[in-house]
Amino acid sequence: MPAVTSPARIDYRVAPGGRLSGEIGIPGDKSISHRAVMFAALAQGTTHVEGLLEGEDVLCTLAAFRRMGVPVEGPRAGRAKITGVGMNGLSAPGASLDMGNSGTAMRLMAGILAAQPFDSVLVGDASLTRRPMKRVADPLRLMGAMIETGEEGRPPLHIRGGRKLKGIDYRLPVPSAQVKSAVLLAGMYADGGTSVTEPAPTRDHTERMLRAFGYPVEISGATVRIPGGGQLRATDLQVPADISSAAFFLVGASIAPGSELTLRGVGINPTRIGVLNILRQMGANVEQVNARMAGGEPVADLRVRAARLRGIHIPDAQVPLAIDELPVILIAAAFAEGETVLTGAEELRVKESDRIAAMAAGLAAIGIDARETPDGMIVRGGSAKGGIVDSRGDHRIAMAFAVAALRADRPITILDCKNVDTSFPGFAGVARTTGLGIEVVPTAA
Ligand code: S3P
Repeated sequence: MPAVTSPARIDYRVAPGGRLSGEIGIPGDKSISHRAVMFAALAQGTTHVEGLLEGEDVLCTLAAFRRMGVPVEGPRAGRAKITGVGMNGLSAPGASLDMGNSGTAMRLMAGILAAQPFDSVLVGDASLTRRPMKRVADPLRLMGAMIETGEEGRPPLHIRGGRKLKGIDYRLPVPSAQVKSAVLLAGMYADGGTSVTEPAPTRDHTERMLRAFGYPVEISGATVRIPGGGQLRATDLQVPADISSAAFFLVGASIAPGSELTLRGVGINPTRIGVLNILRQMGANVEQVNARMAGGEPVADLRVRAARLRGIHIPDAQVPLAIDELPVILIAAAFAEGETVLTGAEELRVKESDRIAAMAAGLAAIGIDARETPDGMIVRGGSAKGGIVDSRGDHRIAMAFAVAALRADRPITILDCKNVDTSFPGFAGVARTTGLGIEVVPTAA
C-alpha cells in the first residue's frame, strides 16, 4: 500500500451560490466529549461512550489519559470503552502532555493534574501557546496548587504534584466554563467544599456530568457547590451532536434561498442555545422537533429553512451562550438587512485566533462592510464578491467563511483549514452532501 502522507496545509475553495438540503448527522459535542473522557477516566468501573467526537482536540485528551495509565478501547465510529482508574489511580505520564489546539483540554486538565501526587507539564500548539492560562492558574493556586506558567501567563504549564488542596469559594472574574470546570475538578480532591459563582451563565456540562457520575452537586442561582473527597461512579453516556458544529449549517441554510435542511440529534442545552436565540431574533426559521433527553442533556432535531434575516443588536446576555458560534453569526449578519452590532464579546480575542480581527479581515476580503470594535463588531448586511480569506488556522473561522460562499458572487478561497479536524472531522464531505460546492485543496506548505 502506498504511504499515506497528510499535506502540510489544506485550503478550501468554495463555489459561489447554491442551497442546502437533506438530512444530516453532525459529530459529537466537543465540550461534552472532553468531559466524558475525563470523568470516565477518574471513575470506578467501565464507561461506554457513544457519539464521542473523534476530533483532534478530544483525541489529545484521550491520549493524555492513556499516557497516565487509563485503558481506553476505541474510539471507533464514536464508541469508546474507558476503564476508570478511580480518583487516585492515575500514574505519572513520564513526558509532557500535548493538548494540541485545545484550550478546554489544557484548562480542565490543569484542574485534575494540580491534585495528583506526580509532577506534570502541559504543552500545546502555536495557537494554544498564545492563550491565557493565568485565569486557571490563579484560582488553582488559591486552592494550594503549585503551577508555573510560561511568559505572560501562557503555556506551558508546569504543575507540581503532591500538593494538598483546600476548597475555595471562587467568584469568576470572566464568564468561563473552562475556569469553572477546572476549579470544580480540583475541588473533587480538596479538603472541604468548593464553590464557583459566575457573573453570567456559561455552559453547565461539568455540573450535569458530575451528577451523571453520581457526584453530589448543589446549584443555587449563579453558584455551584461540591464537597471534596467524593467518588465518581462509571456510567454509560451518549454525546449529543455539537450545536457549535451544527451552527454552520443553521446559518448556511438560513442565508441560501430555497434551503431546507434537517440536523439530527443536536444538543440544545439551555446554556448553549444562544445561536438559536440570536438567529431567531434575526428572523431565522428553525424548528425543534423530536425533543428528548440523551445522557443527561436535552437534544432535538433542528429543521431550518431559508429566511430573510434582519440586523440586530445582539443582546450581551446571549454572548456567553453563543461564544463559539459568533463567527458564523457574523456571516448571517453579513447577508441580513441592515446593521448588526456585536458588543461585550472581548473574549473572542483570546480564542483559537483573535476572532474579532480574523472575522473583520475576512469579511472585508469578501467585500462586506465590517468595522471592528474593541469588544465586537458592526456589520452592515450586503452582498459578497468572493475572494481569499485567511482562517488564521482557526477551525471556526474556516467553516464560517465556507458557508458564506452560498451568497457570494465569485468563489471564496479559505487558507489554512487543517484545524477544522479539531472539532469537525469530515466537515467538507458532510457539507458537500448538503449541496455546498466545497473542494479541499492540499497545499505543500
Ligand atoms: C468551553 C468553554 C468556552 C468555549 C470553548 C469550550 C468548554 O470557553 O469557548 O470552546 O468546554 O468549557 P471559555 O470557558 O473560555 O469561555
